[in-house]
Amino acid sequence: MSAKIIDGKAFSATVRAKVAGHVARLKAEHGITPGLAVVLVGEDPASQVYVRSKGKMTVEVGMKSVEHKLDVETSEADLLALIKTLNADASIHGILVQLPLPDHLNEDLVINSIDPAKDVDGFHISNVGLLATGQKAMVPCTPLGCLMMLRDHHGSLSGLNAVVVGRSNIVGKPMAQLLLRDSCTVTIAHSRTKDIQDLCRGADILVAAVGRAQMITGDWVKPGATVIDVGINRIDAPEKGEGKTRLVGDVDFASASAVAGAITPVPGGVGPMTIACLLANTVTACCRANNIAEPEGLTA
Ligand code: GUN
Repeated sequence: MSAKIIDGKAFSATVRAKVAGHVARLKAEHGITPGLAVVLVGEDPASQVYVRSKGKMTVEVGMKSVEHKLDVETSEADLLALIKTLNADASIHGILVQLPLPDHLNEDLVINSIDPAKDVDGFHISNVGLLATGQKAMVPCTPLGCLMMLRDHHGSLSGLNAVVVGRSNIVGKPMAQLLLRDSCTVTIAHSRTKDIQDLCRGADILVAAVGRAQMITGDWVKPGATVIDVGINRIDAPEKGEGKTRLVGDVDFASASAVAGAITPVPGGVGPMTIACLLANTVTACCRANNIAEPEGLTA
């Protein structure tokens, strides 16, 4: 069997086009331009790439993009003061503080200082609680992107066995909550899970979010299962030349795609969906802030 490739790049373009349509309508009918502020502390190269890409795509869908690049030595008080200003700024509907933060800054304190209504990452403790109790929340972007792809592929997810490998606050835990909300039977597996391979082989939906290159091989996959690979790992690629590298997921694509029914590639799977969902969350936050009916299909 050769799996259907779930094309996250193409899907994300569809989501961004939908977002752009809603942005145009908000401008034309309500005179409102959704605004997203991204805060980057320090000069981590990977974070700089993400932030640049977020800013570019925000502008492409017609939204206002504001970037605050702060020195690596920025004090917690100064960062909190900036967030307070953004919380009070009516032209800003979404605030994202790029993680990880430098060690001297308390990540939980910083994230929980964002107005939950503007927390387009869905990391604020209020949004975590709202999601867990099935209430209207801002939903973390990567799991939201995974859910959109799964719903698109399966239609209903009701009754399916889902295994999420990885228990991070950013992906694993919210992914499990979303799958549970869609009536899957959900198991979260992690580094201490016994017989993890057998457990995964029982999954109709297998989500890999562990951060270990190519850990999940074809013999972990139930024939016909849907495999969502959240991992982005850089490994050596001597076949491309000396010193060259390439991106791979947490799933060994070659062996898993021979067994799965459908699978997301890396790159070009989950990655592009994350930024598309960030833009979707910003439109959703803007609509909620202005008591305008929010777009359908762009949230959980
Ligand atoms: N760093 C890596 N991924 C993310 C993300 O989704 N949100 C934020 N704020 N920081 C990140």
